[in-house]
Amino acid sequence: MQIRPRRNRKNIAIRAMVEETKLGVENLIYPIFIEDGKGIKTEIKSLPNNFRWSLDLLLPEVEECLKLGVKTFDIFPAVSEHLKDQIASYSYAEENFYLHAIRTLKETFPEIVVMSDVAMDPYSSDGHDGLVENGRIINDKTLPILGKMAIAQAQAGVDILGPSDMMDGRVGYLRNELDINGFTDVSIMSYTAKYASAFYGPFRDALNSAPKSGDKKTYQMNPANKREALIEATLDVSEGADFIMVKPALCYLDIIHLLKENFNTPITAYNVSGECAMVYAASKNGWLNYEATMSEMLLSIKRAGADGILTYFAKDFAAFVKQ
Ligand code: PBG
Repeated sequence: MQIRPRRNRKNIAIRAMVEETKLGVENLIYPIFIEDGKGIKTEIKSLPNNFRWSLDLLLPEVEECLKLGVKTFDIFPAVSEHLKDQIASYSYAEENFYLHAIRTLKETFPEIVVMSDVAMDPYSSDGHDGLVENGRIINDKTLPILGKMAIAQAQAGVDILGPSDMMDGRVGYLRNELDINGFTDVSIMSYTAKYASAFYGPFRDALNSAPKSGDKKTYQMNPANKREALIEATLDVSEGADFIMVKPALCYLDIIHLLKENFNTPITAYNVSGECAMVYAASKNGWLNYEATMSEMLLSIKRAGADGILTYFAKDFAAFVKQ
């Protein structure tokens, strides 16, 4: 045997020297759920270890994350049913607690990066990401609503907008709205290849945002499709997306790789709620080692080609690498 691959694995120093993928806390984005009120820290049943926070308790939590090196947060609002309507008007209302929270977070911690969600579902009485008329999701009437939501979030000081709605043309529409309103520095991380996935269950529990009727298959992508992700990415890049996202991550590593090979725009991947819930459940049962499993998962997403990863493991991973 002239070639023995094991020689390059024989000790820690050599293994580290030839290590191809590095994953650091700086690659992670931490999704966080907030609700209106005070003194609230409610654990999400289907996503243990994750909570719905009120702003007063979220501030010390963010401070703790910062000490661990987690600097980028994606904030999602849990809105009470009575504030929801067909046109998601609360999403851009003056008194909206989510906008207030974004503003306070940016004022309190100027060094953090705050990402927001742009989609109608948390505010929609129909539980859909777009406007519903006669049971159909109306693309072009949704865009102005997303535009108002995006401008309100930009005014609150958000750094990155995350359009997660999958309407056609929304990246270009939002880019234009931002620019004409003077927000040329606000970035767009587009949910580019967002699949109609069963892995969003715990997230919808957290926000109580499941569709009241029907499903999301007329706007989110068919999990069977790969080339279609190239069409979506071509559009989003040409419409001005600063980052293109693949979601979910684990069952879609091939899509992450495909976009990495074909585009120069930074790629992000959303390690979604259901993917994390599986690890929490198995490790609680003693079937998997929590830290080892989550680290391997995150590493695989990076290896596939993601530059950034949105993950509910962000804080725990940061604590794990620190010790
Ligand atoms: C909705 C939205 C969803 C997620 C992020 N934004 C759910 C959905 O499309 O129904 C899912 C995130 C997760 O599961 O962690 N616009």
